[in-house]
Amino acid sequence: MSQLSMFLPAEFLDWDAARLEVEVRKHNRLYWDENRPLISDTEFDRLVERLRALNPHSPVLDALGPDPALRVGTPVVHQQSMLSLEKCYDEQTLLDWAAKFEGDVVMTPKVDGCACSIRYGADGRLEVAATRGSGSVGEDITGNVLRIPNVPTRLPITSPVEIRGEVYLPLSAFAKLAGEFANPRNTAAGALKQKDPAKSAAVGLRFMAYDVVGLGLQTELEKFAQAAAWGFEPVSHTLLTRAEMQAGYDGYVARRGELDYEIDGVVFRANRVDEQVRLGFTSHHPRGAIAYKLQGESGLTFLREVEWSISRSRIFTPVGIVDPVNLSGATVTRISLHNWGMVKSKALSIGAECLAVRRGGVIPYLESVTQPGDTPITYPATCPTGGFPLREDGDIIVCTCTTGCAGAVVGVLSHYANVVGIEGFGETWLQTLVEAGLLTQAADFYRLRPEDLVGFERMGDTLAKKLVENCAAHRSDLPLAVFLTSLGVPGLGRTASQTLAKQFRTLERVRAVTAADLLGLPKFAELSAEKIAAGLAAQAATIDALLAAGVTVADVPEAPAESADAGARPFAGQSFLFTGTLAAMPREQAQSRVEALGGKAASGVSKALTYLVVGSEGKAGSKLQKAQEAGVKVLTEAEFVALVEAAEAP
Ligand code: IVH
Repeated sequence: MSQLSMFLPAEFLDWDAARLEVEVRKHNRLYWDENRPLISDTEFDRLVERLRALNPHSPVLDALGPDPALRVGTPVVHQQSMLSLEKCYDEQTLLDWAAKFEGDVVMTPKVDGCACSIRYGADGRLEVAATRGSGSVGEDITGNVLRIPNVPTRLPITSPVEIRGEVYLPLSAFAKLAGEFANPRNTAAGALKQKDPAKSAAVGLRFMAYDVVGLGLQTELEKFAQAAAWGFEPVSHTLLTRAEMQAGYDGYVARRGELDYEIDGVVFRANRVDEQVRLGFTSHHPRGAIAYKLQGESGLTFLREVEWSISRSRIFTPVGIVDPVNLSGATVTRISLHNWGMVKSKALSIGAECLAVRRGGVIPYLESVTQPGDTPITYPATCPTGGFPLREDGDIIVCTCTTGCAGAVVGVLSHYANVVGIEGFGETWLQTLVEAGLLTQAADFYRLRPEDLVGFERMGDTLAKKLVENCAAHRSDLPLAVFLTSLGVPGLGRTASQTLAKQFRTLERVRAVTAADLLGLPKFAELSAEKIAAGLAAQAATIDALLAAGVTVADVPEAPAESADAGARPFAGQSFLFTGTLAAMPREQAQSRVEALGGKAASGVSKALTYLVVGSEGKAGSKLQKAQEAGVKVLTEAEFVALVEAAEAP
């Protein structure tokens, strides 16, 4: 706007509030959404101030900035990558880190929110705010960030500046919300991506600045002072000597409950910028900073024993039995070791000192081995329930039996009962009934009679009758998707089952599908298509037995014809080019989904290209630059997935 001549008539001073609102809205839209301002910045400010004087509560004043519905989510290429932080869990590692540079250390809380970059142009205006995204490309959240009350919309500067920090939701604001989100961070992330600015603003987000990029300031302290002078809320910061670092961290641990925001660690940074520059970066983090994670969610313990749990698909998973350790307020003695591959890759042994981590409600797991143990871990030679030999298959240990393993059968039965909704059969019960030979496969649920059950410990007439009734209640007209999920075919979970049910509509047709039929469907990569087709075929006897036991499966009604036709080629006339690595699906699958929707997969950038899709992993490279020069619309991977899924929806 700044280079424009003035078009605002002098008589604007006579306008009433309603007229001013119309004008402010119009010029705001021309500037932000249409990129063709008609009046200068100063003129615009005068209009806004005049409106503020006549009606300080005008809703138009709260809606200045771009319409989030138009910009939210479009890709923003970061001028400097937004990296992560190295983590540490003890003082020694922190001291080792700090020994590598000169000067003092700045300590700040690691605020658990959403990283945000805000760029201001040479004229001082807030130009763009973006999420961290992949680190090199984020998503536009300008419209919503402009409505965060402690983010200045203009700075008194003459060259561009970028402010980085954390958008967070104060705990006091989170407490007032109706609890739709699990935690303040997820709520903040949701609010930033809102397309309705009023809804986003209502959540009560705040911003804390932790970096000023592009001004050539010499120390972290100068950056905080500058940010504060411009009206930002800098993250709370303290200058420390190395000897004071641990006590500083301990102070945060002690005061954690008094803060009005969540923290998940304490960040230490070299105060001197020249030292940060000298240390440089890895592809993941700058070497001049480190996050000392809060204890409590992690703790050191010793591995004493390994137990093996058998899954439904007869995979043996190692579970670590450890000395009791307090994690996030709970005493933990069992931790997940993930799989056999992890035992091998971490060279884990009995007696090892290891770091156990627990976040939120998730089961604790082994993060790293800090001291090796002395006794190697071996997996059992045979399955304790069926006696069959176990076999190492890459990262997993599997039982070689195909039927008859009580451990595995219990898993299969429990899965079936859970999925179709048969209540009353806990794993202990199932184990008893399997061992008694009453249950060998899912179809047996429907053959149970009360008299088979009475007589077992704690089983009276009433309960026995009730259990049999529960089974009978889930025999007829099982929805096709439920029936498919109940089979426990690897890869055929709830979502895939729903897709299959929607597509093929009858059990008969699903039973006839081949891997090739599945490949054309959304989210079925080659591997999963083959696995599912083979898995279904392997369940033929189980399915026959269920049908013979009286189970009936309801067909899915045919979708109305017009939606099938109208929705068939929503991408007609559009072309898509992919760059970088897609995290959600292989590139070939992305291309075939585009083609299935009537679009074309392009091979290079040209003006005719409709979209360039930037994968969320790996580098976007030169295609991105060319596409931007050619004015091609760039989509993040998330946007692409959303677009495809919306187009594929019936
Ligand atoms: S310094 C390389 N200071 O933590 C980034 N980051 O794991 C240097 N974060 O995405 C950032 N509070 O958004 C810094 N006081 C703080 C922070 C902080 C939270 C976030 C940051 C980044 C993540 C890295």
